[in-house]
Amino acid sequence: MESVNKLVKFESQVAGHDNILCLTTNDLMVFKPSSQQEREFYEASQQHEEFMDWIPECYGTLRSSTENEKELLDKGQDVAPVLSDNITDIPTDQLANLDDILFLCVCVCHLCLENILHGFTRPCIMDIKLGYKIYEDTADEAKRNKMIKNAQGTTIESLGLRISGMKIFDSVERHYTSYTKQYGRERTKDNFLDGLLSYFYPTYNLNNESNNNKWILEHFIDTVSDIQGFVEEHAELQLVGCSLLLVYEGDASAAQAAWKRMLEEDRQDDANIDKPVNDNDGVSGGADDAADADDDADAIQKDMEETGPKLCDIRLIDFGRSRWQPGRTEQEQSFIKALDNLMGLLDQVIEQSP
Ligand SMILES: Nc1ncnc2c1ncn2[C@@H]1O[C@H](COP(=O)(O)OP(=O)(O)O)[C@@H](O)[C@H]1O
Ligand SMILES: [Mg+2]
Repeated sequence: MESVNKLVKFESQVAGHDNILCLTTNDLMVFKPSSQQEREFYEASQQHEEFMDWIPECYGTLRSSTENEKELLDKGQDVAPVLSDNITDIPTDQLANLDDILFLCVCVCHLCLENILHGFTRPCIMDIKLGYKIYEDTADEAKRNKMIKNAQGTTIESLGLRISGMKIFDSVERHYTSYTKQYGRERTKDNFLDGLLSYFYPTYNLNNESNNNKWILEHFIDTVSDIQGFVEEHAELQLVGCSLLLVYEGDASAAQAAWKRMLEEDRQDDANIDKPVNDNDGVSGGADDAADADDDADAIQKDMEETGPKLCDIRLIDFGRSRWQPGRTEQEQSFIKALDNLMGLLDQVIEQSP
């Protein structure tokens, strides 16, 4: 059988231990080696619709098909789950569309997740680890000590935040720059902001993209604030060692196209609801009225979720140590504080924008 669809290394991964994989034929999904705990977390999250907006959609788990299964697939028959470690080369000319992939996503190994970078031309990506406490209460002493040592002297201790990695497109020089985990470990409380400025303003080029950047920053702050509100109200949600994945479009013309599309869709929404003034008006005039645009994050978020050029996205990822714990009655206040710190820093980025 000819191999037309392979799983290969996901080149846009900016942090993490294991190789994230993707398919060669489309960029809709990524495949993350996962623990039972992370799989359970995604499953339990399905009960919380609001929270699902802030995490990648999870399509199931993937394992490789056996020769026997491939034959059965060819014949259009059902396949019973079989474990296998070899998932790097699935000869799956059947996997040409989502349904076929979901058909195979029945067992263990890799979580099949929505690729947050889908819809971007030149995504600028930053992974920020969240929380002062990055070990679980259930961790044994050795694990706990290892995690504490790992956080020592980093901004996890001082801010409850650490840059795990970044990949930034310079739209003037037209090349990517990557920042490793080491870069994040070397940040201090006092120069963390420089890291954020490098991410949001790689070129210090005063063209119209700075207009978008202010809107993007405000959108990120609003989303972090919404997440914080949700976490405060849901003590049963224990987030440990998760990250925020921030993405914005680094290609100036693609960003412009995304911006125009959002404005156009808002105009259409306005027309459709047959109301001369509504919440979306600020965004309709948004390119030159960023203040009003603040109020329209929800409407724009909805726009961005549809296919088409995307201007930005922000999601929680990496739940290997997180849990939904029914009956837990107190939320970890230091996690809330870490989110406060991030919002404060993003505010400072806006203030210091070129
Ligand atoms: N759903 C996703 N869409 C796009 N990129 C992702 C997605 N999930 C993870 N990544 C990329 O992979 C990296 C590592 O993912 P993460 O879940 O943090 O794994 P680890 O448990 O190894 O830290 C992230 O920093 C990001 O670059
Ligand atoms: Mg991670």
